[in-house]
Amino acid sequence: MHTSTTTILFIYKYMLLLDSIKNKNSKVPIWFMRQAGRYLPEYRKVRSNFKNFLDFCYNPEAVCEVTIQPITRFDFDAAIIFSDILVIPDAIGQKVSFIENKGPVLEEIKNWDDILRYDESRLEQNLNIIYDAIKLTRKNLDKNKPLIGFAAAPWTIACYMLEQKTSKDYAIAKKFIYQNNIKFEQLIDVLTKNIIFHLRNQILNGCDLIQIFDSWAGVLNKDDFIKYSVIPTQKIVNAIKNEFPEIKIIGFAKSIGNKIEDYSGNTGIDVVGIDYTIDINKLNHLQTTFQGNLDPISLFGEKNIIKNQVLNILDSFKDKKHIFNLGHGIMPETPIENVEYVVDLVKNYRR
Ligand code: CP3
Repeated sequence: MHTSTTTILFIYKYMLLLDSIKNKNSKVPIWFMRQAGRYLPEYRKVRSNFKNFLDFCYNPEAVCEVTIQPITRFDFDAAIIFSDILVIPDAIGQKVSFIENKGPVLEEIKNWDDILRYDESRLEQNLNIIYDAIKLTRKNLDKNKPLIGFAAAPWTIACYMLEQKTSKDYAIAKKFIYQNNIKFEQLIDVLTKNIIFHLRNQILNGCDLIQIFDSWAGVLNKDDFIKYSVIPTQKIVNAIKNEFPEIKIIGFAKSIGNKIEDYSGNTGIDVVGIDYTIDINKLNHLQTTFQGNLDPISLFGEKNIIKNQVLNILDSFKDKKHIFNLGHGIMPETPIENVEYVVDLVKNYRR
């Protein structure tokens, strides 16, 4: 009785991407970071209704619509909830705006004490609109497609909070580590608690797995990388796994080079994101699921170049658990036909 019920449920709902984290599959699932974005005309149409990017992120109907757009067009194997990593500083008291051609701009922190004392339970009232968007999206999304929730790791959020904008080297944020270490560690702690709360709310409202972005982990030296990227990520993973043992976690720490071993081995993540600079042939000894590596700029190349790169990645991970993805987010002017081409190659590949 029990077995047949499980079998029926299994047939009823099969998520290739989740299965591929547990098993070496003959088919490789595919999705792209930033798959809902400006390269899609249908995205630009919805986007044009909002002057302020965060107003867009805080509109559940618009979020649901653009989250599903790339699934409808390309039949990707997962949707990622349309939102941004900077909703956390915005919610805990540092207003964020997005300026065209400049990116995010954060106001100067004047209320340090309020931020450092911000209790994560207050996050719910500030971000409940995102949880409504997740509920709506899960309801409308194909039941066989997992919905990915996400947050950035504390270091990457701290970078934007301290720097107040995008930077090349995050020198202001790094100086803060050494010149205001107590305050810095308090900031990492408060962000860690809020990130855990934000991720658990995303799971409770319908996300099937989560991804942690540590986009600026690559600017840290080895010791600081362990202290401020690996350990906080491990705390987040432990907290989530404690409450939701079945939920899978993808970790993507960009440009960390050979520190990827520490990251993969010590954080407890289930899937390791691989940026486009990593030599994937040197990862053979790692026992994990891999995701990523295709250079997003190669999608501007000719089809034979794209084909070589895609097949090379697929062949290299042939004996590994593998989710196909880019090595960073897709670029705004990417030709759509080349995205279709990659999806086709991956969907027809068998190992
Ligand atoms: O992947 C997805 O499709 C989900 C949505 C998503 C967005 N941002 C939407 C977005 C996700 C997962 C993010 C994560 C994010 N945001 C990261 C981590 C990943 C990475 O790129 O390293 C970072 C660092 C940010 C911060 C951020 N948000 C920046 C630097 C910018 C401006 C850059 C740009 O391309 O203009 C954003 C804005 C943003 N977030 C856009 C999108 C689609 C573009 C804004 C627009 O449409 O006007």
